[in-house]
Amino acid sequence: MENKNETIRKAPIGVFDSGVGGLTVAREIMRNLPNERIVYFGDTARVPYGSKSKDTIIRYAKQIIRFLRTQDVKAIVIACNTASALALEEVEKELDIPIIGVVEPGARVAAATTKNGKIGVIGTESTINSHMYPQLIKEYRPDVTVFGKACPLFCPLVEEGWLKDPVTEEVAKRYLKDLLKEDIDTLILGCTHYPLLRSLLSGLVGDQIQLVNPAYETAKELERLLKKENLANEGEKAPGKEPYRFFVSDAADKFKNFANSILPYDIETTRKINIEEY
Ligand code: DGL
Repeated sequence: MENKNETIRKAPIGVFDSGVGGLTVAREIMRNLPNERIVYFGDTARVPYGSKSKDTIIRYAKQIIRFLRTQDVKAIVIACNTASALALEEVEKELDIPIIGVVEPGARVAAATTKNGKIGVIGTESTINSHMYPQLIKEYRPDVTVFGKACPLFCPLVEEGWLKDPVTEEVAKRYLKDLLKEDIDTLILGCTHYPLLRSLLSGLVGDQIQLVNPAYETAKELERLLKKENLANEGEKAPGKEPYRFFVSDAADKFKNFANSILPYDIETTRKINIEEY
């Protein structure tokens, strides 16, 4: 492969989500690929994606990708499970830079993790109804059975900061009841917000069930992809004055507060843009 020039390797990764949840993915990229710069877009004006149709999500994803291209990104990560499940297949056709979603890395690791061939997946209504997790898991392991459960109340509870609250625990018990009856040994946290509930969920399901975090698996997948495409920045650590830049479509201050509660450092500015212009 021809050597990509230094400027391209120093270019940022574009990461996008319907709002704040994708910060769990950005956080894993920061931890695992400290040399990479990030331009993050959270579609806070149009969140939630989890109850919207495929056509709408594809339209949103195309607009966001057009915006990210204006930031000269070298690759794109769809941090949102719903957008990965509904739009990745469509948008990747038109792109000449690498793009990955969070569903495939999560599905692949879950297929490799299960011993008894029974996997549970929790996510938004649109992610579960898309059947994208079972479809991809079966490409690796046709023998596996996948049980899906939409958990729409988890996102607002996480955004409220109720990560260990008894109310959240009660909601989780109800959502997980049927999955646990199926004797699953692997559970995919198939929504951006759910890794923040990891300790509550692992307490409920016990250590017989392995939790798969697609946010982490996506960062590892991105690392492999950048190496393979000769796009990894091997120079200084996250170069540039502002290695991580954040854009939203609304409510920049609210976004910033949430970001500062989960990222390992305080973000200074979040810029609001009009995404409908793209
Ligand atoms: N980011 C979404 C996901 O991972 C959850 C929030 C939403 O519904 O927009 O599916």
